[in-house]
Order: sequence, then structure tokens, then C-alpha cells
Amino acid sequence: MVNQIPVPQAKYELLTDVRQPRWRTQVVCLVLVSLVLGALFVTRAWLGIIILRSPRAKTFDTETLADNAKIATWLRRARMYAESTKENQNADRNNSISSPQHFYTNSSGQIIVCYYTVSSDLNTFWELSPSHIDPYLCTHIIVGFASVVNCSLDLGSNSLIYKEVIALKKLQPQLRVMICAGGSNELHLGFSEMVKNHANRKRFIKSVLNVTKTFGFDGLDLDWEFPAWLGADEREKIRFVQLLEELRREFYRAKETLILSVAVAAPQAIVDQSYIVAEMAKYVDFVNLMSYDYHFYVWYYPITGLNAPLFSRAAESGYLSTLNVNFSVHYWLSKGMPREKLIVGIPTYGHTYSLDNPLNHGLLAPANGFGQLGNVGFVSYPIICEFLQNGAKSVFERESKVPYAYKDREWISYDDITSVYYKAEWIRANNFGGAMILSLNVDDWNNTCKFNESFPLTRTINKILRYQED
Ligand SMILES: *[C@@H]1O[C@H](CO)[C@@H](O)[C@H](O)[C@H]1NC(C)=O
Ligand SMILES: *[C@@H]1O[C@H](CO)[C@@H](O)[C@H](O)[C@H]1NC(C)=O
Ligand SMILES: *[C@@H]1O[C@H](CO)[C@@H](O)[C@H](O)[C@H]1NC(C)=O
Ligand SMILES: *[C@@H]1O[C@H](CO)[C@@H](O)[C@H](O)[C@H]1NC(C)=O
Ligand SMILES: *[C@@H]1O[C@H](CO)[C@@H](O)[C@H](O)[C@H]1NC(C)=O
Ligand SMILES: *[C@@H]1O[C@H](CO)[C@@H](O)[C@H](O)[C@H]1NC(C)=O
Ligand SMILES: *[C@@H]1O[C@H](CO)[C@@H](O)[C@H](O)[C@H]1NC(C)=O
Repeated sequence: MVNQIPVPQAKYELLTDVRQPRWRTQVVCLVLVSLVLGALFVTRAWLGIIILRSPRAKTFDTETLADNAKIATWLRRARMYAESTKENQNADRNNSISSPQHFYTNSSGQIIVCYYTVSSDLNTFWELSPSHIDPYLCTHIIVGFASVVNCSLDLGSNSLIYKEVIALKKLQPQLRVMICAGGSNELHLGFSEMVKNHANRKRFIKSVLNVTKTFGFDGLDLDWEFPAWLGADEREKIRFVQLLEELRREFYRAKETLILSVAVAAPQAIVDQSYIVAEMAKYVDFVNLMSYDYHFYVWYYPITGLNAPLFSRAAESGYLSTLNVNFSVHYWLSKGMPREKLIVGIPTYGHTYSLDNPLNHGLLAPANGFGQLGNVGFVSYPIICEFLQNGAKSVFERESKVPYAYKDREWISYDDITSVYYKAEWIRANNFGGAMILSLNVDDWNNTCKFNESFPLTRTINKILRYQED
């Protein structure tokens, strides 16, 4: 009874009559516009590929970051992290965090866990060899990556390098050297098959004990990226915990005081999907939180962002405010990981972008691909130093506590002495278990940065966590 306004029926019919041809025009226009947009998109993607494939500019590129196999691993993780964005948007997560279930106040001092990645080809001039590692920089060195093949730990053809790293213990008896399983070589299937049943897991654990005994490793780090993720069997989440429990039990039974750690994801969506955190906490000595790759160039989100911001910026809200170290750490705490078991990841590499417009060089600036430096968006600290020595301008983002640098179209987000200083101080002040460094290989071990010391980033972290007075 409300809508008593007479509807102009006749006029309406007249209108639909008139509309008929216009409707067709609109469809034709829409199709044309989509075709043009599609063509533009394809051209741009194609150009992007050409630019990526073209020989790199030789100005600063005295070194490639690492061999391609290693890069493939890092690239895969960065892409998975980016992919997890979609999960977050679909799930519309609750970003506020409940208080941690455990609260440990006393700590036995922080540890420094350093990854050292074994290249498949150590003849590269710039590759870090074990003899150049400073054995006093880290409390733990994790060497990787061994594969899981046929439910056994497989060191491949790198036994000699593993032995050389273990030999560092002669120089520094307190150093712990662990072997990392996973990380590279598309090992997802290796893990899936291995955790499937008790017999397979048992075979794996036996091979682990054999390897640790034969070589003298102090423990095992599991780097499965990631259980039950991206369409994998949901049960992998439980099987992974079973594996950890059985590893712990067998280590105990073998009367080996072996260390057990896991490299774990930072994005909320992956944490929810892949881990039963409180259960894992019972069996691991610590987890290495991969708190980096928060922003990385992907074609569907082509704007600049920070690799590993410590804090969120005031301008960030919702999902974007979860993309920082502080959030990830608190999320892991809230899920039940005790703070002294939480080792916070710090990258010694940066991420590159190619700017659309050199004059628009801030955060959230449009980009059209990876930068020229480094390798598929990853760049080592020495190359970043050369970039700065060659006139790049660096900006320290005050809220996130990390820098970025740009010159012409090249844009790089990275960590420097100041940013790792902030991170280490924060780890210390909050009594977290320690810092994890990825990796020794891409820190400035050969004094390219002219700081007059090797491994300046790792060394800064070491000074704060181990030798600083209270
Ligand atoms: C989000 O989670 C917190 C802590 O778990 C809870 O207190 C809060 O009510 C939740 N908010 C919403 C909107 O669900
Ligand atoms: C921490 O405190 C508990 C209880 O106060 C004590 O049993 C434990 O030995 C302490 N751990 C360290 C590492 O100091
Ligand atoms: C370190 O850099 C210098 C050049 O600055 C080079 O001569 C030397 O061979 C490099 N060392 C290694 C181990 O690559
Ligand atoms: C896997 O291991 C089993 C038992 O040791 C062996 O019988 C089998 O041949 C192996 N398969 C491959 C592909 O190596
Ligand atoms: C133990 O490891 C060594 C060295 O990798 C290997 O040669 C040997 O076959 C292994 N033994 C068993 C029982 O797996
Ligand atoms: C760090 O994260 C916690 C939990 O989300 C939050 O309460 C705190 O304000 C954050 N700190 C900063 C400096 O952003
Ligand atoms: C640089 O290193 C040299 C040799 O190790 C040392 O003698 C010198 O004092 C250092 N200079 C600075 C500024 O640290």
C-alpha cells in the first residue's frame, strides 16, 4: 500500500523498445573493450618476460645471488606466501590476537641459528665455502638442503661440504651443526609420502639417525613447505605432528641428545592450514620462523612493498597489517608456541622491483616486474651495497624499521645494519628464543660493503644477542 505512485507503464515499454538496439551496442562495446584490455595485458606480460630474459645490465652485477636450484626454493616460498593472500581474503580472518597460552619469563640466553645453503656447484667464484664461515658468529648452523627420497634422508653428492661445515666444531666446540631436510628440490612429494604411515616414518627416522651418527650432526631441521597446503591431504597436518613425536621418541631411545627444529611459515593462512602449533611445541626444541617475503613482486599485486618489516605502518589495516614480523611472532605465541622456542627469522637478502615510473619511488609505487639486480627478485646484501655505492638513494621506513633503496627504475627492499639492530634489540627485549638468519651465503662475507668486517649483518645480531651487557 505504500507504493501508490503510478508507474508509467507505457513509457517503460517504449523505453525497453528503444533499449533493445542499445543493449546490443553495449555488449559489442564490452567485448571490444575486453579484447583491447586483454591484448594490452598479454603485451605487457610478454614484455615483462622479454625484460626478465634479456641479458642483465653489467653495471653492478658482479655476482649472481646463487645458483638456480637454490633460487627455485626461495622463489617457491615467496610465491606461496603471496598465494596465501587469497586464502586470507576468502576466510576474512580475525586479526586480533588472544593472549599467549604459555608465558615463560626466564630464558637461558638467546641462540643464533644461521642457515648455510650448499650450492650444487661450489666452483662459482663468489660462492661462500665452509672454510670462510666464522665459527663464532652463530650458536647453530643449519646446513641444507638434504632431500627426502624414498622415505630416507638423502644428502646427495654433497657429503664433503657437510663434513667441512661439521669440522668448524673443532675451532668452536660449542657450535651446533644441524642438517636440514627439505627446502629445495620440490620435496613436497617426498614428505607427503614419508609421513603417510608409521612404517615410512620409521624408515625416515632410521636414516636420520644413521646420517647424524655417520657425520656427527647435532640435530635435524625439517623444512617442509608446507604440510596440507595448496590442496594437499588435510591429514598431513596430523601426520607431521606424529612424525615430530616419533622423532623425539627415537632420539631419546637412541640416547642421542639430538636437536629437533622446524622451519615454519609466517602467513596466518598457512599457519592455520599447516600446523597444530601447541602439539608441535611439545616435541621441537625450537621453530625457525620464516618471517620474510611478506612482499614480493607478483603480477596480480604489482606495487612495491617491504620484504621483512618489523612493525605494521599506521596506514595499513586489515590483512595488510598482518604482513610484518611482529604480527607473525605474536600469532605464533597466541597459537601456543612458547616464546623461548620461537626463533625469529631475519633475511640478509632483499627483494627487487622494476618501477613503472622512476619518479614514483615510494612504498606502494606501481611496478612491472623484478628489478635488474640479483636473480628473479632476490638480491644479496653485497649487491645491495654496490647499488648504494653506485648512487642509489636509501630511505629508512620509520614505522616498519627497515630501509628501501632506489635508483632509476630499480627499487629494492632490504635489511641493513640498522634494521637488524632494531630486530635483534626487539628479540632481546621480548625474550624470544633468538634469531634465525637466512642466510650466511648472502650476507657480506667478503667485505664488499667496506664495513671492514665480514658478515656485518649476522655480526650485528650476534653482538646484541650474545655479547651485549644488560
Ligand atoms: C577476534 O578474536 C579476539 C580474540 O580471540 C576476540 O576477543 C574478538 O571478539 C574476535 N573478534 C571478532 C570480530 O570475532
Ligand atoms: C626457569 O624457571 C623454572 C622455574 O622457575 C626453572 O625450573 C627452570 O630451571 C628455569 N630455566 C632456566 C633455563 O633458567
Ligand atoms: C673477495 O673479494 C676479492 C676482491 O675484493 C677477491 O679478490 C677475492 O677472491 C674474494 N674472495 C673470495 C673467497 O671470493
Ligand atoms: C626404496 O626403498 C626400498 C626399501 O629399502 C627398496 O626396496 C626400493 O627399491 C627403494 N626404491 C627406490 C626407487 O629407490
Ligand atoms: C648409513 O649411512 C651411510 C652413509 O650415508 C650409508 O653408506 C649406509 O648405507 C647407511 N646405512 C644404513 C643402514 O642405512
Ligand atoms: C605488535 O603486535 C602486537 C600484537 O598484535 C600488538 O599489540 C602491538 O601493538 C604490536 N607492536 C607494534 C609496535 O606495532
Ligand atoms: C679495519 O681493519 C684493519 C685490519 O683488520 C684494522 O687494523 C683497522 O683498525 C680497521 N679499521 C676500522 C675503521 O675499523
